[in-house]
Amino acid sequence: MDFELKPLSLAQATTAQTDALVLAWPDHLPDTLPDNVSGPWAQGAEGLLAWLQPLLKSGELEAGVGKQLVALACPAVAARRLVVVRVGDGSAAAVRKGLVVAFSGLKQPHVKKAVVYLGLPGVTEGAARAAMLAVADATYQFTTTLSKPKPRSLHKVIVAMPGSERVEQLVAEGRALVSGMELAKEWANRPANHATPTLLAEAAEKLGKHPRVKVDVLGPKEVGKLGMGAFMAVAQGSVEPLRFIVIRYNGGVKGQAPVVLVGKGITFDTGGISIKPAAEMDEMKFDMGGAASVLGTMHAIAMLQPHINVVALIPSCENMPDGRAVKPGDVVTSMSGQTIEILNTDAEGRLILCDALTYAERLNPSSVVDVATLTGACVVALGSVRTGLFSPDDALASKLSSAGEQSQDLCWRMPLDDEYAEGLKSNFADMGNVAGRMGGAVTAAKFLQKFAGNLSWAHLDIAGTAWKSGAAKGSTGRPVPLLLQYVLNEAALQAAPASVAVDKPKRRRS
Ligand code: BES
Ligand code: MN
Ligand code: ZN
Repeated sequence: MDFELKPLSLAQATTAQTDALVLAWPDHLPDTLPDNVSGPWAQGAEGLLAWLQPLLKSGELEAGVGKQLVALACPAVAARRLVVVRVGDGSAAAVRKGLVVAFSGLKQPHVKKAVVYLGLPGVTEGAARAAMLAVADATYQFTTTLSKPKPRSLHKVIVAMPGSERVEQLVAEGRALVSGMELAKEWANRPANHATPTLLAEAAEKLGKHPRVKVDVLGPKEVGKLGMGAFMAVAQGSVEPLRFIVIRYNGGVKGQAPVVLVGKGITFDTGGISIKPAAEMDEMKFDMGGAASVLGTMHAIAMLQPHINVVALIPSCENMPDGRAVKPGDVVTSMSGQTIEILNTDAEGRLILCDALTYAERLNPSSVVDVATLTGACVVALGSVRTGLFSPDDALASKLSSAGEQSQDLCWRMPLDDEYAEGLKSNFADMGNVAGRMGGAVTAAKFLQKFAGNLSWAHLDIAGTAWKSGAAKGSTGRPVPLLLQYVLNEAALQAAPASVAVDKPKRRRS
């Protein structure tokens, strides 16, 4: 979808030849409207306001974010349809909510172009990016495996807002974010037979066409040479060969410690020999949601070209039951040298991630963030609102929390007390891969922590946030917004004056 920023006045917006004009209407406006009609923002739009006033007075536009008034062929605007939608206090979050409703109602074949007017008093700058996300989200359409695909008809959106450098930056970020999220959704939504580790790696290779991006894909032989015994154990039950995908974005100074993003890329999780129940097993095609979000984030980074080094690591394979599959009780040696008793083959995510974390150490990273649909327990704990955030590093945890707030892609910090690792003890290996039912999201994180060594490391459990179930089943594209925001914030920090940067240690661990 094509987004364009134009600093239109309300008067200009009313004359725009477009299929739909959407006015983001902040709450305080209806009451003050009669007095403000002559305000500068209203100049030239008196016709529209006069048309609106009686409707507002009679309560046609109900209270509440997302409530809307829709008019066809309104004489006061050139657009074929006018939507006035409430956006509460005009904050990014409220604008996003309101516009998702408005644009869900505009999913019609003849709505190809739209103008979103964000210039009314009270609408904040952050609304620019939020509006783009809302429009993209509300009109997203998966088409890859449909015989008669109905692609989204909306292809041109003008974001009408008073221009400033900041708003231009937000719109550029919005464009990249939308592309990144749509790439993440595409790959997460694909059924497993259309998103094998091989196909996922090919998608990653395509990022190599962007400047400063280099992609390496390792297969079973190379991964064997690296000694990734835990990763290989998960992959051995499938006829699909594993892939270890390395994407490097070199936007920073050569040799500068990179941010490393690690994404769980289980393209289908049957549970293996510890097989899952049949109900909703199809949703385990989303078990590469971490990988998809890391891919999407790298795409957005490649579009924005920030001054920072970022490396993405994606271990990808299927988790299948088979004659050759790993069995409960099998002991494997991870790349770190630590041995693992695989007590439950369905706790496979941590097995592929632990070797990726060991690999990350060789990159001398400034920070490592892994992203994974890791545990059902995290869904129980946090539902679909917030991603689980685990990190022993207070500074990194607080950066990720604020990146989540800034991008409206929320997470919540969870504990990592050592007592949670008790259950991982094994009589036959350095550790087991599961620790009983209680606190499952935390014990999974404790397992990963054993492989994070001295890294400044954080783990995001996106099992509850990466996709929606039920009628709206599909990928959410999360946590691309959080990850992109974190990387952009890090880039800004690195660009800060040397006097500030010098006393910032590169590696930290609490
Ligand atoms: N991919 C699943 C986690 C998952 C389950 C995500 C349900 C979203 C919804 C993961 O590989 C898994 O199976 N985890 C097990 C761990 C258990 C065996 C310790 C789980 O959560 O049940
Ligand atoms: Mn599993
Ligand atoms: Zn899994």
